[in-house]
Amino acid sequence: MIPKDKLANLLPQALNETNLPLLNRQSGKVRDWYDLPDGQRLIVTTDRLSAFDMILARVPYKGQVLNQLSAWWFEQTRDIIPNHIVSLPDPNASIVRTAEPILVEVIVRGYITGVTSTALWYRYSLGERDIYGYQFPEGLKKNALLPEPIITPTTKGGATGHDERLTCSEVVEKGLLDAKTWDQVQSAALAVFKRGQEVAGKAGLVLVDTKYEFGIAADGSVALIDEVHTPDSSRFWKADSYEARFSAGEDPENFDKEFVRIAYAEKGYRGDGEIPSMPDELWASASERYIQIYEMLTGKTFEAGGYPVEERLLANLKKSGVIS
Ligand SMILES: Nc1ncnc2c1ncn2[C@@H]1O[C@H](COP(=O)(O)OP(=O)(O)O)[C@@H](O)[C@H]1O
Ligand SMILES: [Mg+2]
Repeated sequence: MIPKDKLANLLPQALNETNLPLLNRQSGKVRDWYDLPDGQRLIVTTDRLSAFDMILARVPYKGQVLNQLSAWWFEQTRDIIPNHIVSLPDPNASIVRTAEPILVEVIVRGYITGVTSTALWYRYSLGERDIYGYQFPEGLKKNALLPEPIITPTTKGGATGHDERLTCSEVVEKGLLDAKTWDQVQSAALAVFKRGQEVAGKAGLVLVDTKYEFGIAADGSVALIDEVHTPDSSRFWKADSYEARFSAGEDPENFDKEFVRIAYAEKGYRGDGEIPSMPDELWASASERYIQIYEMLTGKTFEAGGYPVEERLLANLKKSGVIS
């Protein structure tokens, strides 16, 4: 494990953005990407950390963890569904097959939890019992295990738009996807989630819920794209303390980036108004947490890539012939 003071010292060097000599740079909240020939794309995962729909900080090694952890999960699930990965030319970068993203975010939930407007527990606590087209019984407790994982789709809101809740049948009714493809996507999502729960369980973690993105590849097949079972796209709880805490009516121990939101909430910030500034210590802890999750899930030692990232990235892209 990298000592925390070393992680804190790297904060000024964390990767904020890239300016590679490649075509058509675009960026989302966390990733930058560039067009490559032959229907491929280079995706660089930066160290940007977003929450409340904002970039809050740059966290050393976060990009590397997300890139390598996703690649690891893609490998663990490729017997279930093909994915976009072609190769990893650098710890922070993947060459992928560009796909036509489907316009639905496929969220799978194993537990009733969450406090945001699209979360199951939030809706349930408002008194709703028909949520995303599923009927929920009276008397459920927060953080309870669902009888089986369910899919709660939302529209893809994009950078600024808000995600809109959908039922599974609305996905087809609203013309977002044809019935056959949606069936395929749902089966794959549930199977990948089941695999994720098994693997997380062996690592002492509970995979609580997650978001998948699927795309249509150039050959027309459905592929898993974007990221898989990372602390950004998923909620993880510590398995050994879950039961006791649940029985006592306490929230589980989170093992994803939720603790960043909690740190803000402790300063009275929940997403509106002026955002408080946070000590470097929080971001060094975040770095430590990301690395720890990587190691727990994969069972591998995290091999820290060199900083500054962009210099190294450029050298690796030249070495692998992506940049001449
Ligand atoms: N293989 C792929 N083909 C096309 N688009 C992809 C592929 N993999 C990921 N994407 C898209 O790339 C973007 C990743 O950048 P990110 O910073 O995570 O974006 P966001 O802010 O939307 O979460 C997302 O819009 C995602 O849908
Ligand atoms: Mg994303």
